[in-house]
Amino acid sequence: MTTNTDITPIGLLNGKVVFITGASRGIGAAAARLFAGEGAKVVLAARGTDALDRIVTEIRADGGVADAVTLDLADGASIRSAIGRVEELHGRLDGAFNNGGIPQQQFGPVDAISDEDIDEQFAVNFRSHWTAMTAEAALMRQGGGGAIVNTSSIGSRRANPALPAYGAMKRALNSLTETAAVNWAPANIRVNGITPGGTSTEMIDTWEAATPGIVEQITATIPLGRMAEPRQIAEAAAWLLSDRSSYVTGAILPVDGGAGA
Ligand SMILES: NC(=O)c1ccc[n+]([C@@H]2O[C@H](COP(=O)([O-])OP(=O)(O)OC[C@H]3O[C@@H](n4cnc5c(N)ncnc54)[C@H](OP(=O)(O)O)[C@@H]3O)[C@@H](O)[C@H]2O)c1
Repeated sequence: MTTNTDITPIGLLNGKVVFITGASRGIGAAAARLFAGEGAKVVLAARGTDALDRIVTEIRADGGVADAVTLDLADGASIRSAIGRVEELHGRLDGAFNNGGIPQQQFGPVDAISDEDIDEQFAVNFRSHWTAMTAEAALMRQGGGGAIVNTSSIGSRRANPALPAYGAMKRALNSLTETAAVNWAPANIRVNGITPGGTSTEMIDTWEAATPGIVEQITATIPLGRMAEPRQIAEAAAWLLSDRSSYVTGAILPVDGGAGA
């Protein structure tokens, strides 16, 4: 089966201001290009300023609206300041894709994981999203509401023998996503999560380098028979950020080619 990624934009996110973390490469970079093509004014965040600037230049050359802001997810002040920059630029926030994340430094089992690795997983893959969501929701309230999408992982759903700290933080993120959806529904803020399966990005390249053959092993578990392209994950986030999903909140949506089924 072929994958059609050359889909004509339909203005799914027309006029919306959308903040994207982890936008310097992989799923976040694909989301930046897709959301801008669908009419969003995007603000791209990551540590890699040069990569962000290249994507901003590309989006502007195509007639889109994009800006970059430097962000370190390990640092709460940096997260709040990045969302402050969104307010300076646009005075509002309609959508946030909290997508930045890291693999573990060391792969499993549980008793092989260092305290440093656990702490880093907590800070970057969990606490950062809490901090970001809180700042995002405050800005969204000023505009009467919005939509937040958090990138979790198929690795949050069951035991995760190779990535135990990563799996634990992603499962905690699912809980936070569901709770925030309930807390903020009266403010007209929808909060959803996506659980991508194996996706062809640098994160998977890192895993393959540490564990040769893992890509083949993961692919063998995917009913659709191939890894996702980053754009295919971004498409699900675009829908959840759009008004076309206006009655969906508190959902954790698998985007995994059937691997979790
Ligand atoms: N690829 C997969 O198979 C897969 C599967 C399930 C879930 N996911 C999840 O999908 C999300 C995106 O992953 P990806 O595959 O696109 O990975 P990737 O290609 O490695 O990109 C990760 C992004 O996160 C940013 N980032 C990492 N640490 C950061 C920090 N401390 N501060 C700010 N930004 C930081 C990186 O930017 P800088 O390095 O420039 O800061 C980069 O833009 C992650 O949450 C990941 O857990 C991926």
